[in-house]
Amino acid sequence: MRHKKINEVKTIFNKISFSYDFLNNLFSLGLHKSWKKKLVDLLKPIDGENWADLCCGTGDLSFLILKKVSPNGKVMGIDSAKEILNIAMKKSKSIKNKCIAWEMKDIFEIDENLRKYDGICMSYGLRNLVNVEEGLKKVFRLLSDRGRAGFLDFNHSKFYSMADIFQKIYLRFIVVPISKIFKLSEEYSYIEKSIKNFPDGNKLCQIALSVGFKNVEYRTVFWNQMGILILHK
Ligand SMILES: C[S@@+](CC[C@H](N)C(=O)[O-])C[C@H]1O[C@@H](n2cnc3c(N)ncnc32)[C@H](O)[C@@H]1O
Repeated sequence: MRHKKINEVKTIFNKISFSYDFLNNLFSLGLHKSWKKKLVDLLKPIDGENWADLCCGTGDLSFLILKKVSPNGKVMGIDSAKEILNIAMKKSKSIKNKCIAWEMKDIFEIDENLRKYDGICMSYGLRNLVNVEEGLKKVFRLLSDRGRAGFLDFNHSKFYSMADIFQKIYLRFIVVPISKIFKLSEEYSYIEKSIKNFPDGNKLCQIALSVGFKNVEYRTVFWNQMGILILHK
């Protein structure tokens, strides 16, 4: 079951990688960039720090973090899907960046005894992991003693709330039909299923406290469509 989900997720992201940035911009009308900036502002990375962008995809967050930790800090972008990571690497080469290292790896295979980060960020990754609690535990162990982590993802709204209804209509009648044009409707149908299985903000905070984080904060953005979770050790 675990392996099936890992492979399913990897296949999805390898397959959609070439249209990923384009469709992301289209479906969010470019707004995902401002939500990512908001996440980075809340995390306050500073020059000289060592950060990891887990489930980095095409690297949006890695590039935003790099601006804050430069010139003395570094960023590592990690993702398990080869094709999507290749796109991040190409972008990185085109800006002649030398301070982001890219690694193809499942986040659960990162050796926490060898690596400690001042900060970890993840956008639209937590919901795709085989197990959210295990993911937060892993992040906790990968952070240095005073480290912090931030996550941006879809918000799992209350069943039948306005936000829930809007989200479903939007995914079913806009996202899936448009992605059909790109022969990716099956892959994009996965979003609704993954949100259904994703804990809501309160539950995410409870899980984070239970794995050891001292300070947890969850806020929603864009009329409760997205959520940002900020955790401090
Ligand atoms: C929706 S994309 C998000 C990409 C990027 N962070 C963004 O915001 O655009 C989710 C990414 O998580 C990666 N992913 C899922 N599970 C993973 C795991 N266990 N280890 C590493 N990467 C994983 C997928 O390959 C995919 O690139």
